[in-house]
Amino acid sequence: MKEKFYLTTPIYYPNGNLHIGHTYCTIAADTIKRFKNYQGYDAYFTTGTDEHGQKIAQTAADFGMKPLEYVDRIVEDTKELWKLLDIEYDSFIRSTDPQHEKNVQNIFQTLYDKGEIYKGEYEGFYCTPCESFWTESQMDEEHNCPDCGRPTHKAKESTYFFKLSEYTDKLLDYYKTHPDFIKPKSREREMINNFLKDGLEDLSVSRSSVEWGVPVPFDEEHVIYVWIDALSCYLSAIGYGFDEEKFNAYWPAGVHLVGKEIVRFHVIIWPALLMAMDLPLPKQIFGHGWILFDDDKMSKSKGNIQYPEPIVNLYGVDALRYFLLKEFTFGEDGSFTVDKFLKRMNSDLANDLGNLLSRTVSMIEKYTDGEIPSPSDAIGPDEDLKELLLGTKAKVEEAMEEWQFSDALESIWQAVRRTNKYVDETEPWIICKDEDQTRIKTVLYNLAESLRIISVLLYPFMKETALKLREQLGLCENPSFEEADTWGLLEIGTKVEKKAPIFPRVDIEKERERLAKANDDLNEERMEKLGGSKKLVDKHTKPEITIDDFGKLEIRVAKVESVEDHPNADRLYLLNLKMGCEKKTIVSSIKDFYKPEDLVGKNIVIVNNLKPHNFRGIESAGMLLAAEDEDGKLSLLTTMEEIADGSCVY
Ligand code: MSP
Repeated sequence: MKEKFYLTTPIYYPNGNLHIGHTYCTIAADTIKRFKNYQGYDAYFTTGTDEHGQKIAQTAADFGMKPLEYVDRIVEDTKELWKLLDIEYDSFIRSTDPQHEKNVQNIFQTLYDKGEIYKGEYEGFYCTPCESFWTESQMDEEHNCPDCGRPTHKAKESTYFFKLSEYTDKLLDYYKTHPDFIKPKSREREMINNFLKDGLEDLSVSRSSVEWGVPVPFDEEHVIYVWIDALSCYLSAIGYGFDEEKFNAYWPAGVHLVGKEIVRFHVIIWPALLMAMDLPLPKQIFGHGWILFDDDKMSKSKGNIQYPEPIVNLYGVDALRYFLLKEFTFGEDGSFTVDKFLKRMNSDLANDLGNLLSRTVSMIEKYTDGEIPSPSDAIGPDEDLKELLLGTKAKVEEAMEEWQFSDALESIWQAVRRTNKYVDETEPWIICKDEDQTRIKTVLYNLAESLRIISVLLYPFMKETALKLREQLGLCENPSFEEADTWGLLEIGTKVEKKAPIFPRVDIEKERERLAKANDDLNEERMEKLGGSKKLVDKHTKPEITIDDFGKLEIRVAKVESVEDHPNADRLYLLNLKMGCEKKTIVSSIKDFYKPEDLVGKNIVIVNNLKPHNFRGIESAGMLLAAEDEDGKLSLLTTMEEIADGSCVY
């Protein structure tokens, strides 16, 4: 029976906006799956969507939808994308699958019954977008969230705790005795220094302020913390709780591939939970780096997202797969630029590989009637070529032991370049004129045979390309990995068939524009489909008003004299304002966005004649005006030039 190998990508948030950074891990995982199968394992690959949590409920509400209705649409799009990228996952787990939700409840119940979870009260700093509590020591001086960098606020809530503090030494011991558990090694040091060195604190694992989640089975006031829900998807995807045979066959996982910012959850919370459940731990957590865009983090608000679809539609799936796997070292950050991508397409794919194939097949058509000729005795360059080609499989396997895709592909490209050099060394266009045709036949055989081995080696990385190579060489079977161990498998007399170039050379100037336009068009389309800025405008569109309606508002410029914390509400400020001789106080919820020193002395714009309202014991005499964008970024209104406070705004 084949040895099982279970691997996963993270369970993605259904944001409907997956960019090439997200596809990086999925392409890597898909390659590992194919590679492991190629080596004779029975590999099982899980990906999926992490669909619970306040943020998703809020987004769905913004579009006037129920959460499940909203995520259903996105899941469909996500599956389409994986299809386009030729991702052969075995299971797509959704955290809203009823069976999984049942598992999450059972896990919580088991841990509670074992005394691993207890009820308490949490007081800390909460980051609403990340739905995470943080302690003082985990944040910077300004109390920004260590994950997303946005401001946190003080919050108190009744919660269930998992006794994570009891796992500090167990985890440290485990890391020591399992040196391959966290990879690359640098991530292990990071985790120990940043989180474990000073001891872990118990972890809050339920929320009473969130509704869209899996309820705690014995306390409906609480939903289960999203990370317990998300991490245990890895178990549900292989039958935990309902298909024990399958589960036992594939668990523990061989590797969880995760981005560097979520390594922490996978090497601390996940193994501690598994230990508490008496389940074996995954063999490895591999934390890869981020794909940046022009050295910057990709984000919707920066407008610098590179989508995979335009690349695939214009240049084919393998151009993207090759670029992501070859250009960057798996484990480190890398910067995507359109120019880098186009240049690599021209040099590695069109010049090196594409050219080798088309000239080999052309020469066979021209010099030996399109049939693989029979070779004779090998001489110097032939032996050298053969030795390099046959030695490549071992180099690829060695690189893939550590998931170093770039090194594996580099070894294959050394073989490609060596074969191109062989053409230059042997000069077939000259020896074809020899009366004795034995040499030209041998050279052409060796070229075709080298390409056959290259197609075998490429198969798990770039299936479509490998099959195109084989098609032109007259090979219709899918390859098996062992075929790269033997020289001479290509049958004499096989008919080759020249087709269009597999990677045509591109004009970088032109393509730069074409790709940028295709990307912008898609961005626009996504914005429309998912709402985005257009939807935001729609959402806030109000019925027409008359000038008389507008005239009822008294809008004025006010100077901020001082700012105080609201005595009864953590997230509110009291803004003491001056408008000429008049003074007043406005209660405002801009505390997450501005520090008092950002505000004092500034002119802001307020609605002055709004009926006063009492906010937690303090009367607010008006309302300040601010703009808010789709990402929740806030900007206070002020005047272009310095103007006397109290001035009217028309
Ligand atoms: N839902 C959690 C994961 C739960 S796993 C039990 C989550 N989802 S995510 O959609 O935000 O991120 C999924 C993965 O995409 C993460 O591993 C993250 O690192 C990765 N990436 C997001 N942007 C990326 C780049 N720009 N580059 C590389 N990977 C990136 O986190």
